[in-house]
Amino acid sequence: MMMANTYLQVLCLSICSLAIINTVSSANENYLPEAYHVSKTIVKNAVSKGAVCLDGSPPAYHFEPGFGDGAETWLVQLSGGEWCRDVEACLDRSKSDLGSSNVMGSWWFTGMFSKNQSGNPEFYNWNKVFIRYCDGGGFTGDVEYVDPATKLHFRGARIFKAVLDELLEKGLKTAKSALLSGSSAGGFPAMLYCDYFRTLLPNTPRVKCMNDAGYFINPKEPFLTNFTELYTSLVTLHGSAKALPKECTSKMSPELCFFPENMQQYVKTPLFIASSAYDKYQINSSIANGINTCIGYSNCTAATNQTFLEFRSRFLNALPKPTNPKLKGVFIDSFNHHSQVQYWWSPLNITTINNLTLSKALADWFYDRNYTYVIHEHELPIPALGVVKEKEHKAKEEQAPSAKSLT
Ligand SMILES: *[C@@H]1O[C@H](CO)[C@@H](O)[C@H](O)[C@H]1NC(C)=O
Ligand SMILES: *[C@@H]1O[C@H](CO)[C@@H](O)[C@H](O)[C@H]1NC(C)=O
Ligand SMILES: *[C@@H]1O[C@H](CO)[C@@H](O)[C@H](O)[C@H]1NC(C)=O
Ligand SMILES: *[C@@H]1O[C@H](CO)[C@@H](O)[C@H](O)[C@H]1NC(C)=O
Ligand SMILES: *[C@@H]1O[C@H](CO)[C@@H](O)[C@H](O)[C@H]1NC(C)=O
Ligand SMILES: *[C@@H]1O[C@H](CO)[C@@H](O)[C@H](O)[C@H]1NC(C)=O
Ligand SMILES: *[C@@H]1O[C@H](CO)[C@@H](O)[C@H](O)[C@H]1NC(C)=O
Ligand SMILES: *[C@@H]1O[C@H](CO)[C@@H](O)[C@H](O)[C@H]1NC(C)=O
Repeated sequence: MMMANTYLQVLCLSICSLAIINTVSSANENYLPEAYHVSKTIVKNAVSKGAVCLDGSPPAYHFEPGFGDGAETWLVQLSGGEWCRDVEACLDRSKSDLGSSNVMGSWWFTGMFSKNQSGNPEFYNWNKVFIRYCDGGGFTGDVEYVDPATKLHFRGARIFKAVLDELLEKGLKTAKSALLSGSSAGGFPAMLYCDYFRTLLPNTPRVKCMNDAGYFINPKEPFLTNFTELYTSLVTLHGSAKALPKECTSKMSPELCFFPENMQQYVKTPLFIASSAYDKYQINSSIANGINTCIGYSNCTAATNQTFLEFRSRFLNALPKPTNPKLKGVFIDSFNHHSQVQYWWSPLNITTINNLTLSKALADWFYDRNYTYVIHEHELPIPALGVVKEKEHKAKEEQAPSAKSLT
């Protein structure tokens, strides 16, 4: 069992309870056949650069070298886990693996990080880096001052730079191809730093980025989380404004530039956006707490269904227009899940749009084989756990590590 933390536990509690109300049993859906453990690497020289986690400990990542024809191709992933918007929440967080490398264990690599060629044909042999999120501010913070009472550090932007410096020396600088990706709270920084990542790799022919399940929109009526207020607190506490593109902050306030929809136009390097139109985290925050439950039972009311359609329409409008999918590709499904690259990737769990997987769409787009701007025509949300193929799970569940141990 890895180090538990409250944020993931809360998420797991809600996912686990959803699993129970779905027809698939929670034991089966935790089956991770091809996962393997990767130990943590602590970033050297980070402390001297002041690039530290909330509690002042150095940042960390997990690295698995590539092989075969993937040896010069890199996936650099920014992990997610919401944000902390005030001192009290950041102090709590600084005691968990979302705020301190002292309590981080190893990580299970699965899904896009799997080395199984048949299950992960496009990415199995890439170099893979999973950067741990420990700053609470979506890798944007840069505050010099440290309050002696709390000893909290708000240094996410410095963490990103310090980790990348180390990765360049580890072989990233001679990469032939590189993808900077991020999930959930890691999705925005993967967009934000996309052009910077490009400049770090002047000799790399192919450099692209992806935001997975981090394209949070600003709904007209935020029922629960007012993201504008959330981002206002983040920008203030973490000193994030200077990390945001000046082209954006010269036109609107910094918290508004934290919305991917307001910022995407300033990203010049090719960017791919993968999300559900009914992302589990976003609709729970923006439509109603627990709204995912009626999707699982297929018994949402007519009024809720109407709200879903309005939300989807607002979400689709917030996406980059389909004018140049080579520069801005999208893969938007209607499954009620959150983040695809780890647990909704394996053939056992895959969700598709007319038989097209995110894995295929992303790889085609990345390698310039086909530029994808795909939007699922299914207009209402689809429960995601129903797609898990129970039989395959049953076959091997006893030999396999389980998703529960990920938290
Ligand atoms: C690799 O993936 C294939 C296809 O999903 C699966 O049948 C096989 O069991 C996996 N192998 C391992 C070792 O996980
Ligand atoms: C969300 O917060 C912003 C900033 O405080 C405010 O201007 C806006 O009216 C709020 N939206 C709603 C619907 O409450
Ligand atoms: C939904 O939101 C509530 C309140 O913010 C939170 O406690 C819960 O964990 C969330 N559930 C999901 C699935 O994100
Ligand atoms: C949906 O069905 C479940 C199980 O029967 C029930 O607990 C829940 O209240 C229902 N929800 C709605 C909105 O009717
Ligand atoms: C809402 O949509 C779901 C499908 O997503 C459907 O099963 C359900 O019957 C609809 N509710 C009503 C009241 O029409
Ligand atoms: C399938 O998805 C569920 C929910 O995210 C996850 O718990 C499970 O581990 C996934 N299974 C695989 C094989 O990725
Ligand atoms: C998806 O694939 C299945 C099996 O190969 C096939 O029966 C089905 O018609 C395909 N659906 C679409 C929309 O292409
Ligand atoms: C390219 O992708 C589109 C969907 O975006 C699909 O309809 C088309 O068949 C694909 N072409 C090839 C050659 O794979």
